[in-house]
Amino acid sequence: MRVVLGVGGGIAAYKAASLLRLFTESGHDVTVIPTDAATRFVGTATWEALSGHPVSNSVWDDVDKVNHVRLGHEADLVVVAPATADVLARAAAGLANDLLTGTLLMAHGPVVMAPAMHTEMWQHAATRANVETLRSRGVTVLEPASGRLTGTDSGPGRLPEPADIFAAVMAVVARPGDGGSLQGRHVTISAGGTREALDPVRFLGNRSSGKQGMALAEAALAQGARVTLVLAHADVAPPAGCDVVRVDSALQLRDAVLGALPTTDVLIMAAAVADFRPAEVAAAKMKKSDDGTDPVITLVRNPDVLREAVLARDAGARPQVIAGFAAETGDAAADPLTHARTKLARKGCDFLVLNVVGADRVFGKDSNEVTILDADGSEPAAVHGSKRVVADAVIAHAARLLSR
Ligand code: CTP
Repeated sequence: MRVVLGVGGGIAAYKAASLLRLFTESGHDVTVIPTDAATRFVGTATWEALSGHPVSNSVWDDVDKVNHVRLGHEADLVVVAPATADVLARAAAGLANDLLTGTLLMAHGPVVMAPAMHTEMWQHAATRANVETLRSRGVTVLEPASGRLTGTDSGPGRLPEPADIFAAVMAVVARPGDGGSLQGRHVTISAGGTREALDPVRFLGNRSSGKQGMALAEAALAQGARVTLVLAHADVAPPAGCDVVRVDSALQLRDAVLGALPTTDVLIMAAAVADFRPAEVAAAKMKKSDDGTDPVITLVRNPDVLREAVLARDAGARPQVIAGFAAETGDAAADPLTHARTKLARKGCDFLVLNVVGADRVFGKDSNEVTILDADGSEPAAVHGSKRVVADAVIAHAARLLSR
């Protein structure tokens, strides 16, 4: 592919060099167009050496070649990373006051922007409106990552890791023809781990970090979906741009998920939902008694939310596509894949994402190795990579099923 890589003037410009390498190493021909401000962070010599092409940011260089027309016209794909608040604003306004914005107006292939800026700038009404405008025109504006920003501040606004941007771009490029787009679709994702109260200060919980669910939300947003995130306890912040419904217990999660179903096209149950809850929740903190008797906690079963959603769908309601997650260890009776197949049949959902877990695997890790098991009996698909790469594959699979 002929790729134009636009680089905005932010401190994250240096990360665009790694992104450029990912494109060139996978055989793509990249022309870099930095903004004037970007060249204050990374010089044009770096881009020329890494891309093997001359680099300019002015419409007044090589005027005979009419670069602002040629580059945009010839590009199969335009990626802007980092997309600063200024670049987003100029692109949304349709300005053409430098080579990058001129190229954006000429581009006819997919355009993907990876924003990076301070949290306040990202959340400012002006930026929100610009992002909306760009998305409504078909531009894929990725959600920024959350974390440490330029100084000591942190929050949403970080440029996603180059490998994650690359994966998201590839998912967008793979979209035409295979039904990958979720534009106009509503995706509901449950994430995190539920907490079942024992008394006002104690609960039964689990080790889910919520990272995979957040990555799924980001991936669905990147495909243009409206995303509802039903969020139980998690270690990481949800991505900007989704409707977050916070829940604590399995019963609350059930109400939130079932409440979202009437408009949901795709439901992905990534949450670790407690199978049991204490039969009684003590009104006051449980105390040790002097007579030496210790409390015995009786557990009762929680509803199976995934199964209830499938039954609602079977009764003629939405959603069209339902996916579950299964963490399996395997045991003397069967291996993880066999357990997962049994679970897929028992739950009745369209596909199951299998995580093979052990003491040191999956929980809280940034990367993941999963197998997508489809109810139609097709060959299981293995996906290995960051949680975002896995999320892109899961979302792409759901989108394909939706378009069938
Ligand atoms: N799930 C659910 N409601 C529950 C428990 C699980 O919706 N009460 C969902 C999870 O979100 C996940 C899928 O079901 O998508 C599989 O979860 P898992 O705990 O592996 O399934 P269980 O039916 O509880 O199976 P097991 O007996 O192996 O624990």
